[in-house]
Amino acid sequence: MTNKTDRIIIFDTTLRDGEQCPGATLNIDEKLVIAKQLARLGVDVIEAGFAFASPGDFEAVKKIAQVVGIENGPVVCSLARAIKADIEAAAEALKPAVNARIHTFISTSDIHLEYQLRKSRAEVLAIAEEMVAYAKSFMTDIEFSPMDAARTDPEFLYQVLERAIAAGATTVNIPDTVGYTTPSEFGAMIKGIIENVPNIDQAIVSVHGHNDLGLAVANFLEAVKNGARQLECTINGIGERAGNASLEELVMALHVRRQYFNPYLGRPEDSQESLTNIDTRQIYKTSRLVSNLTGMLVQPNKAIVGANAFAHESGIHQDGVLKNKLTYEIMDAQLIGLTDNQIVLGKHSGRNAFRTRLKELGFELSDSELNKAFVRFKEVADKKKEISDWDLEAIVNDEIQQAPDLFRVELVQVSCGSNARPTATVTLRTPEGEELTDAAIGTGPVDAVYKAINRVVNVPNELIEFSVQSVTAGIDAIGEVTIRLRYESKVFSGHAANTDIIVASAQAYVNALNRLYASLQTQEKLEEVTAQKV
Ligand code: KIV
Ligand code: ZN
Repeated sequence: MTNKTDRIIIFDTTLRDGEQCPGATLNIDEKLVIAKQLARLGVDVIEAGFAFASPGDFEAVKKIAQVVGIENGPVVCSLARAIKADIEAAAEALKPAVNARIHTFISTSDIHLEYQLRKSRAEVLAIAEEMVAYAKSFMTDIEFSPMDAARTDPEFLYQVLERAIAAGATTVNIPDTVGYTTPSEFGAMIKGIIENVPNIDQAIVSVHGHNDLGLAVANFLEAVKNGARQLECTINGIGERAGNASLEELVMALHVRRQYFNPYLGRPEDSQESLTNIDTRQIYKTSRLVSNLTGMLVQPNKAIVGANAFAHESGIHQDGVLKNKLTYEIMDAQLIGLTDNQIVLGKHSGRNAFRTRLKELGFELSDSELNKAFVRFKEVADKKKEISDWDLEAIVNDEIQQAPDLFRVELVQVSCGSNARPTATVTLRTPEGEELTDAAIGTGPVDAVYKAINRVVNVPNELIEFSVQSVTAGIDAIGEVTIRLRYESKVFSGHAANTDIIVASAQAYVNALNRLYASLQTQEKLEEVTAQKV
């Protein structure tokens, strides 16, 4: 391999680093749905998880390796500390993948060595070399990361990288773990590595960075100009603390400004060829899927995928865009897969039309998923005359959400109004199949519903986020409710879509409670917690 590749490798870490943000926890089926969509998006490498971290993580990596790690599919990767047991777990979980990669790491900055690892530089050098060689005994594709590289003494960094490459690393990744560096510093660091690591031509130089100062994407673009050829990023920029570099921003920057970047990759300036393998028309859909399944909302002004990213409010801008789009738009919304919200289906549309349109939108559902989604479609079509592509997407995303099926909402009734005390009655089916009904009074209808649900489920929790968004304009629009709740230090999310936002609120809450309930079951703490009345 050589670092002189003339295109940029997109390494997606949504399912590993992205999933590390509070409340973004996904179950195996949800991870698989996202991994399949990442494959459709065209990412080169999927970091599917950290196999050693837990049995759930191991299974998720293995399942993704089996289903997505196929011939001509993306490389499936697992993270592993530079520890034998981690590397063995990664290698085992990755066995089913046709193209697999172990990504092993160890900290190299003095501050991490002194306070976290309590090891000398010589010890770290030896471990890095030994563990890369150990990983290499399982497969050929090995990535090595010197964690906190951006704050590591450059001379030491060069030595570690040289030894890792000599031991078999085919990609060396340079993480700005704490999001500290600035674009020109990061660019200079990549240049320094390429000039000073003698065997660097035997590896791809990759970058990884966090967004603590809002500079991750800018840092990466500077790194590309200086020779980095792999970018580690996440959908919607989710991740630890302020998140990771956002995939959609990087890809679209490289696409829209390819004439600027072409020469840095040895291409003629006017080359129209894409700099990445990404099918940009899948970006919006992937963003919505990740947001729905993780419960991490996308801020309206977020570049590329925010609700306002293509909206023009000022009169001057609107006037210009009407005369010629290019006056105020640097890219066409269709490039990221935003359609014109066409009205496509209605109450009388049949299963065939439904299936065909979903196929056109890129959803490949199994027969049972399609049946479930069709039932939901008919319910929605009874209430809402015209079903747009965005409605279809909301219905399907809701159906493929895989929150554990423990409690189920059977009935929600509220009574509220200016002179009434908001009162709710709910019936839930319990995991044991029993139907339980309870009622409560609240400060508003949603509060009343949540109190009634709490009386049935009886698991203490604190609601920390509640949001309702309409999928389309219009009084009969589908409302999407996203909630996050906290139990001790853990955050759980829930999402639901319905034309009735009170019903959506109840379903989203029960989804999140189901995740919490399942986690207590796994920890065998359920009986102790439910013994006390909420
Ligand atoms: O931020 C970081 O340094 C990481 C490494 C494990 C690559 O996520
Ligand atoms: Zn990271």
